[in-house]
Amino acid sequence: MMSEISQNIEKAIANLINGSLVAIPTETVYGLAGNALNKDTVLKIFETKNRPKFDPLIIHTFSLEEALKYGDIHPDLLLLANKFWPGPLTILAKKRDIVPDIVSSGLPQVAIRVPNHKLTLSLLEALPFPLAAPSANPFGYISPTTAQHVQDQLGGKISMILDGGPCKIGVESTIVGIENDTLVIYRKGGLTVEEIQIVIKIPIKINDSSDSDPLAPGMLKKHYSPNKKVQFLESDQALKEPSGFLRFKEIIKNINPENQFILSEKGNLEEASHRLFEGLRYLDKLPVEYIYLEPVPDIGLGKAINDRLNRAAAKD
Ligand code: TXA
Ligand code: MG
Repeated sequence: MMSEISQNIEKAIANLINGSLVAIPTETVYGLAGNALNKDTVLKIFETKNRPKFDPLIIHTFSLEEALKYGDIHPDLLLLANKFWPGPLTILAKKRDIVPDIVSSGLPQVAIRVPNHKLTLSLLEALPFPLAAPSANPFGYISPTTAQHVQDQLGGKISMILDGGPCKIGVESTIVGIENDTLVIYRKGGLTVEEIQIVIKIPIKINDSSDSDPLAPGMLKKHYSPNKKVQFLESDQALKEPSGFLRFKEIIKNINPENQFILSEKGNLEEASHRLFEGLRYLDKLPVEYIYLEPVPDIGLGKAINDRLNRAAAKD
């Protein structure tokens, strides 16, 4: 079954108002969106992507002012919101009562962000409610960065896919909160740690390795997973052939180039993050049993890319 792919924003508005789900483009990945203030609609989001209810959703709004209606944001985090919204930044804020508990999986904090995508900002501005939207993939699989990726996996299960082109950044937003006067990064993402450090003067801690941390229940060790067997390539490894290879900038000689996906020939991390999920999907479709990964330099966006690679390679 197929869902309609279109740029018809009026139709998206009508669908969302009548309680249907619509996939929406953002600068990070496509989201599976519905009325965040309606519990039945939010329940439908969890069911459609087969997501456990302990894994909370992000609320999307078109402005900081609007975001403040749904959460009370700590002053240090307001500095970030002012500087980086709209953008790939998600803030944990004290949830206001108007937001149904199911959105935050019963947690006292709710995640909020203002996405940087023209079509989706106009959509949000036209709607009388904010949108709850997880990434538009079945739970645990690779996030979608084109309308067609959404169609491939959720086609027929949702009313329509609003087509905003390929996602510019290509990895999910960075999630931040405050604990004991420390800024905590719960998920490395499109906004880099280095960019956050320029604005934030209090200590910064990265806490994204949580099977155990109840605050970030969705940051499961295994995630972003292709169906193939995924592992990092060791230098002296005996390769099972044919296999798929995710490469940073150079192909391996003597191996079929069609089985290799180069993230960025120029070694540019922005280009690499933009192409990352496309690459994993490409390799996952090859007639091979194994996918071998190569880490990228661990700076800037490279940190978010390596995080996704580690989770893709993690065993359950
Ligand atoms: O870039 C993005 O953030 C995309 C686009 C669509 O906006 N959305 C996205 O949503 O990646 P999702 O649901 O795939 O990931 C949201 C993450 C989950 O790991 C969840 O556990 C965490 O945010 N999260 C949401 N609410 C939370 C809360 N109240 N406390 C802690 N973690 C939270
Ligand atoms: Mg996700």
